[in-house]
Amino acid sequence: MRIAFIGDIVGRPGRKIIKENLSKIKEEYNIDFVIANGENASHGFGLTVKNCKELLNTGIDVITGGNHTFDKRQEMYALLETAPVLRPDNYPEGVPGEGIKVFEVNGEKLAIINLMGQYTMPTVENPFNWATRLLYNLKEEGVENIFIDFHAEVTSEKRIIFMMLKGQVSGICGTHTHVGTDDLQIVDGTAYLTDIGLTGCRDNIIGMNEKIPIQKATTGIGGHFEVPNSCKAILQMMVIDIEDGKAVDCFKLKKLCDRKELIKTEAIID
Ligand SMILES: [Fe+2]
Repeated sequence: MRIAFIGDIVGRPGRKIIKENLSKIKEEYNIDFVIANGENASHGFGLTVKNCKELLNTGIDVITGGNHTFDKRQEMYALLETAPVLRPDNYPEGVPGEGIKVFEVNGEKLAIINLMGQYTMPTVENPFNWATRLLYNLKEEGVENIFIDFHAEVTSEKRIIFMMLKGQVSGICGTHTHVGTDDLQIVDGTAYLTDIGLTGCRDNIIGMNEKIPIQKATTGIGGHFEVPNSCKAILQMMVIDIEDGKAVDCFKLKKLCDRKELIKTEAIID
């Protein structure tokens, strides 16, 4: 099967570039299943019911989250019960929703896992031990195709989970920093990228207008971070070919709003 993962969708420009391009890309590249991180999809903070429906209608199959999952709390509670929406699985016990779901793709099982790191993040259980437990259960159930969205601030936490789980899962992609890294690779059948980068405005500060962040950095006085209405938008996507639980090929696609051709980067395969 061929799956794709789209990085953190930030606000309306992120939703717009997906609406305008995803179905075409899915068709051109024969993509069977699409995962997208949507914790910043509504005004940069959280996800509303309306925007969730809008994204699912573009061809996204499941939406993952992170530290902003509960920013629009009541709407998220409803979505976690009724829609293919995940929040990091290692949130403490009692938090609504879940962070693991098994789907049927081309007659095969595909597990999607959403986890969150600990550095500068809300209180969560240790993601490394949590992942080990989840994988044990999935293997017991005979699920071989497994993809993880690891939402974390630091590159080291992401590399740790990769080194721990390589050979055991089909793909791991980092999210949260909104800035893509260039270490796309496959090791022991696990496709990996430290961070996919945002899908939204690329000409400011992590998808937000630069005025308030600069003011905050220079004066200590903060304010509300705003997603600009118009900008140079980018869509960033990781594509993985999986056979019997192993990633056999992987590449990244970038679509810029003002250029026709996609930019394709191949993974290093070891
Ligand atoms: Fe985040």
